[in-house]
Amino acid sequence: MMRTRPLKVALLGCGVVGSEVARIMTTHADDLTQRIGAPVELAGVAVRRPSKVREGIDPALITTDATALLKRGDIDIAIEVIGGIEPARALITTAFENGISVVSANKALLAQDGAALHAAAEQHGLDLYYEAAVAGAIPLVRPMRESLAGDKINRVMGIVNGTTNFILDKMDSTGAGYQEALDEATALGYAEADPTADVEGYDAAAKAAILAGIAFHTRVRLDDVYREGMTEVSAADFASAKRMGCTIKLLAILERAADGESVTARVHPAMIPLSHPLSSVREAYNAVFVEAEAAGRLMFYGPGAGGAPTASAVLGDLVAVARNKLAESTGPGESAYTQLPVSPMGDVVTRYHISLDVADKPGVLAQVATTFAEHGVSIDTVRQQGRPDGVGKEASLVVVTHRAPDAALSGTVEALRKLDTVHGVASIMRVEGE
Ligand code: NDP
Ligand code: HSE
Repeated sequence: MMRTRPLKVALLGCGVVGSEVARIMTTHADDLTQRIGAPVELAGVAVRRPSKVREGIDPALITTDATALLKRGDIDIAIEVIGGIEPARALITTAFENGISVVSANKALLAQDGAALHAAAEQHGLDLYYEAAVAGAIPLVRPMRESLAGDKINRVMGIVNGTTNFILDKMDSTGAGYQEALDEATALGYAEADPTADVEGYDAAAKAAILAGIAFHTRVRLDDVYREGMTEVSAADFASAKRMGCTIKLLAILERAADGESVTARVHPAMIPLSHPLSSVREAYNAVFVEAEAAGRLMFYGPGAGGAPTASAVLGDLVAVARNKLAESTGPGESAYTQLPVSPMGDVVTRYHISLDVADKPGVLAQVATTFAEHGVSIDTVRQQGRPDGVGKEASLVVVTHRAPDAALSGTVEALRKLDTVHGVASIMRVEGE
């Protein structure tokens, strides 16, 4: 039976994502009504700059007082697409206090305060949905939270930031410079308000924290995620990667320990073989591998950023939350019953590609190899090359290791730096996906 009284929606934020949410709500209004079983009406749009022209939006809906909009008594669902911690956190809290379910795309806030926000939603018997917070348009949060709820996820590895994938892809495929590629990603609406969040890995780390919590049914906060950005990745790193039959991607990797007693969560650039499916993820696309005990390996792939793709995920949540409202029920809340500790990065075991500038004289190779051995790091391959400019007696030494704990690798590098014959550690990159 179709309900004629509309469900009223407050749109908090009308930028890259919010404007697309408003557009789709308007243009697909009839379909949304059929799918939900009641009309959804845009009842107010909160922004910062009220005088800005917003195509397709009735100016009478615009307000700068988001709190008053939420408190006025007729709103059923709020869509938070402002971003950042405040005022988004206060507004979501206000929404719950006023009986309003929330759809959000705000990974920074969810990674920092997800537990408290989930608790508030549960306390008030309301929904908190956030499919758009991780990997843009890709259905990932709901499949992991619901479709895989009967399985045991052991590992998640993927590209979860569109901006950095766009930059790395351009650097690799066209030789574009870092700043030029970042400017293009920003103009296309992929980057965060402060792109440092993208390039320094904070955005991917926030998404990693959210995914780890869902995958392992535990609480993982942003601070628990080891993070390295991609600003140090150079053309020389891409050249080294190519020589190894690899490319470089910013990866988020979440793992359950073999004994099942702890988890690790990390974000860093890594070399991956060109034969690995993640190597062919181009532009602002994202891709995430989920390894579950019974299901095996699943791959989720699609546009990871941008207004319309992200709005697709927001609208999916809107439909789900609206259906729940009509059924006077709620969807699944937070599931964090395992309380697994997050192990430090030093415990992570992986392979490494280390590029050293060394003195080009007898015995250096043996000295370097001994240092690796003393720290229990086994070498897979070594390649030495004289400097092409022939300056001084210096060579470039590239060492690729077998799998070793991160702490052992750090100890090795520290010891290498102290050797007179090692003039510099040009780069250290993890090697994944083999
Ligand atoms: P924008 O910066 O484009 O939009 C932010 C919106 O919030 C603007 O409309 C702005 O108003 C409004 N705003 C800012 N401060 C306030 C305030 N105090 N009160 C009311 N409104 C305010 O951001 P995006 O649309 O790109 O991102 C929104 C959220 O979606 C973020 O959490 C982001 O991380 C997330 N996200 C973004 C994706 C993307 O590709 N862009 C993809 C996935 C998630 P005004 O228009 O007046 O400036
Ligand atoms: N800035 C984010 C990205 C938006 O580039 O992935 C999507 O979450």
